[in-house]
Amino acid sequence: MPDDDREIRERVRSLIEETGRERTHLLEVLHKVQREFHHVPRAAADAIEHEMLVPVADTYGVVTFYDLLSERPVGANVLRVCEDVACSLHGAESLAAEAEKLLGPEGRPSGDGQVSWTRCACLGLCDKAPAALYREEPLAPLTPAAIGKIGERHA
Ligand code: FES
Repeated sequence: MPDDDREIRERVRSLIEETGRERTHLLEVLHKVQREFHHVPRAAADAIEHEMLVPVADTYGVVTFYDLLSERPVGANVLRVCEDVACSLHGAESLAAEAEKLLGPEGRPSGDGQVSWTRCACLGLCDKAPAALYREEPLAPLTPAAIGKIGERHA
């Protein structure tokens, strides 16, 4: 993973080249940036502004709107714990507490940078509440044991 701003801008330029420069490709480009850098760094937003003519403020407007994008680094694999109504009624808060205990503070990558967790809104899996996504795959019903397994791999 490139770690300085110049390398990030270069990499984002090539992602834009393979995806498309039109503003309609912004979300797709941002998903690629998120997958590669585990967040949308400022240097990436600068490259997007330069190459796609999308102001940095607009890029971060999109980033803050979508749960799958983040301004700050997250783990390469993210556990998203639903805290909406159906899941709350099925113990989402105690599962979030378990995630905090086993995986660390919400939104902060594990020591190896491989995992982090966050709360999220309804995932459309209410019939299997309490629900979560891990690596964008459904994990429902979510159990403390499932969180423990994720934690063991990245302790
Ligand atoms: S309320 Fe949690 S998946 Fe719908």
